[in-house]
Amino acid sequence: VQWQGELSPVVSPIYIRDEQRDGDALQQVVLGHTPLLDGETALKALDSAVKAYDLGRGAWPTMAVLERIQHVEKFLALMQLQRDEVIRLLMWEIGKTYPDAAKEFDRTCDYIRDTIAALKQQDRDASHFIIEQGSLGKIRRVPVGVALCMGPFNYPLNETFTTLIPALIMGNTVIFKPAKYGVLLIQPLLQAFLQSFPAGVINIIYGRGRETVGVLMESGKIDLFAFIGTNKGASDLKRMHPKPHRLRAVLGLDAKNPAIILPDADMARTVKECVAGSLSFNGQRCTALKILFVQQSRAADLVDKLSSAISELKAGMPWQQGVAITPLPEPGKTQFLTQLLEDALDKGAKLQNPGGGQTSASLFTPALLYPVNSSMRLYNEEQFGPLVPVVPYNDINEVIDYVVNANFGQQLSIFGQDPQQVGELVDIFANQVGRININSQCQRGPDSFPFNGRKDSAEGTLSVVDALRQFSTPTLVAAKYQ
Ligand code: G3H
Repeated sequence: VQWQGELSPVVSPIYIRDEQRDGDALQQVVLGHTPLLDGETALKALDSAVKAYDLGRGAWPTMAVLERIQHVEKFLALMQLQRDEVIRLLMWEIGKTYPDAAKEFDRTCDYIRDTIAALKQQDRDASHFIIEQGSLGKIRRVPVGVALCMGPFNYPLNETFTTLIPALIMGNTVIFKPAKYGVLLIQPLLQAFLQSFPAGVINIIYGRGRETVGVLMESGKIDLFAFIGTNKGASDLKRMHPKPHRLRAVLGLDAKNPAIILPDADMARTVKECVAGSLSFNGQRCTALKILFVQQSRAADLVDKLSSAISELKAGMPWQQGVAITPLPEPGKTQFLTQLLEDALDKGAKLQNPGGGQTSASLFTPALLYPVNSSMRLYNEEQFGPLVPVVPYNDINEVIDYVVNANFGQQLSIFGQDPQQVGELVDIFANQVGRININSQCQRGPDSFPFNGRKDSAEGTLSVVDALRQFSTPTLVAAKYQ
């Protein structure tokens, strides 16, 4: 579509000195613009996806698997040519440091490569089997239909592509709405999409969610909803579909991953993992550690060492070497974090690292809070930012109750050295979360591992192999030959 309508400015979270004004005046940079589509245009994208799905034999959904793979291989080759530009935009749009932005780009390419390899393997392994004497069967994995893929601002490339790529490669046609922040970085890839896929197979829409995605959902023509973001966003959109029971949903949602620090934990390792787990990319990871439970006897030692480690983290701009804390892209985020911080301080927690919790433009310095208790907002609310709450416990049952009664269940970490005690906790928690990390932080990677969660944290499972299943359906073809 040659868009003639309204445009939306994309503003960087990074403030620079305003050359036009005297003194220390700062201004945010407008990085570019995206089309502000209306509902009518979004519906044209839907029509195009529906038509591409229904073109008949040999079209995208029924194309030979190896042929479809060639389209994705071509896309990957072209995408790699845009590495520098996408990394640059990741830094400017969402404030990701250079090493983290490069890692996001490279792991996304690895993910695409692994998905291609897994599908080739699956294609080789798909053979006929005998159902009974005189009758043969074969499982065909068929696409689900028209998929709507939406990803979050914190991993606008990786998280989005871990739904987009399996959706495409399994033969679905796709409507893709880039994240609200981290949206411009898709533009260097537009030509790669255009050159690699048949018309209508992938359709990219921009604009306000309610006006664009809302009408798509209301149309009832979306078959698969792949969404990584907030619970509210996912449930608002799901509710708009007239036949929700026909909608397959693959969701990665909110989380409040706890670390459980047992009395015999190796403190040096625990501190290193908890700092990285809580504060990588400013704590803006769904997989971040968002609350630390420590046995009372080790609390003072933990807090002291965490405070020193956090004080060493340098705040600055994404391109500066050695910087760990960078500007936050969500408008109003520093105010939200300040409210959580003040609520905890009002209710008796103490700030443990001097200089923590201070705001400068869109920067927020990490704050370590201790002792945190159940009366504070930080105990249950997801901060998605650089606040590190530490809760002392006397009896491990207090922590077990927290995990079992929580609304979220993505991951947790256990730090301890007694295999018996750790093993018992693993048994207790195995059905409460999607991943249990022992003596290490919570994380999604490697992306070939199953990525899911329990309760309100997820629906379905992503990864390489799981995603191929999630974005397709098995159909049994059975033939009698006697
Ligand atoms: O926000 C969720 C991301 O998938 C995190 O990935 O934990 O491997 O950094 P990661």
